[in-house]
Amino acid sequence: ARIDKDGHKHFMAKEIAEQPTAINRALAAYLDQNNQITLPEELDFTKVERLTLVACGTGYYACLAAKYWFEQIARMPVEVDVASEFRYREPPISAGTLAVFVSQSGETADTLAALRYCAGKAQQIAGLVNVPESSIARESDVVLPIHAGPEISVASTKAFTCQLVILLLMALKAAAQRGQPLPADLPEDLRSLPGLLHQVIAGEEQVTAVSRELAKAQDIIFLGRGHLYPLALEGALKLKELSYIHAEGYASGELKHGPIALIDETVPVVVIAPSDALFDKTVSNMQEVMARGGKVILVTDAKGAELASEGVAETLVLPHVNSVLTPILYAVPAQQIAYFTAIAKGTDVDQPRNLAKSVTVE
Ligand code: G6P
Repeated sequence: ARIDKDGHKHFMAKEIAEQPTAINRALAAYLDQNNQITLPEELDFTKVERLTLVACGTGYYACLAAKYWFEQIARMPVEVDVASEFRYREPPISAGTLAVFVSQSGETADTLAALRYCAGKAQQIAGLVNVPESSIARESDVVLPIHAGPEISVASTKAFTCQLVILLLMALKAAAQRGQPLPADLPEDLRSLPGLLHQVIAGEEQVTAVSRELAKAQDIIFLGRGHLYPLALEGALKLKELSYIHAEGYASGELKHGPIALIDETVPVVVIAPSDALFDKTVSNMQEVMARGGKVILVTDAKGAELASEGVAETLVLPHVNSVLTPILYAVPAQQIAYFTAIAKGTDVDQPRNLAKSVTVE
């Protein structure tokens, strides 16, 4: 079938907009009518002592977010690494490790090499891929298609959120099998996620004004804490890929150990902070930024906006969501910020310079 932009200006806009449908497809594949998780039976987390998550680029940030879920919900030890480091580190891998390789294309050379390293150590290999006939799928013991549908834009959007959904379902399954209590209202609340994403996508208007301001900056810092820290990294990655503005993602708590030296009125700071258990901590980091003249863009929910908007240059308000699900919902404003900043700068959104959709050479 021919893939077109379906009335959108760019594939990226189309793929951002497709996320509610894509997530519904992923949920239909792995969550039944009674909210029972239906992952392949070979995935038996009772026997897994340790989880290794490996990927490149955006997939790596999905893995990093998943580490928080597996540790907090399933109480499992997790190691996460980028494939290019993992493969040459030659990490010792003990029996009882499940190695999960996350790749949209299923063809990334470094990820495939990391997979082969683990396969050579007789580990169980799971591949989370968007292309079921890919090399990574072929060489995995267990294949989990993410059902995002074809992704054309070089910058990954719907594959990222589908990866997150499936990694979370894996963590919930692992928790259930290991006798850990599930977080309140999960997995039921996953059903509300597509509707909430739709709301955020429809509210893109609030991002365009912010992006026009960001487009004037030379450097932008993204801050997040807990499982929003990987989102800060992903927000910075997307922004630099698409707009060519230098951006860095930092754990909010690390601000004082370096990046605070960069803060002045010319360096906007995007703070990703839903009103969760760590909100106050992040707000105090945000205040340190404002005390030094830094311009803050706060991405939060209505409660967060009410508590902490004072002195903030712009606030992007998202609907409230179960705090376990915030990395998935907050991925959308991270994508929108990058998209609209690139539009404001006039760069090539779908084909950024020097980047490729799939990197099949080392
Ligand atoms: C390239 C793409 C990124 C992607 C990364 C990993 O750098 O531009 O969007 O995240 O490769 O690709 P994969 O197909 O393995 O997820």
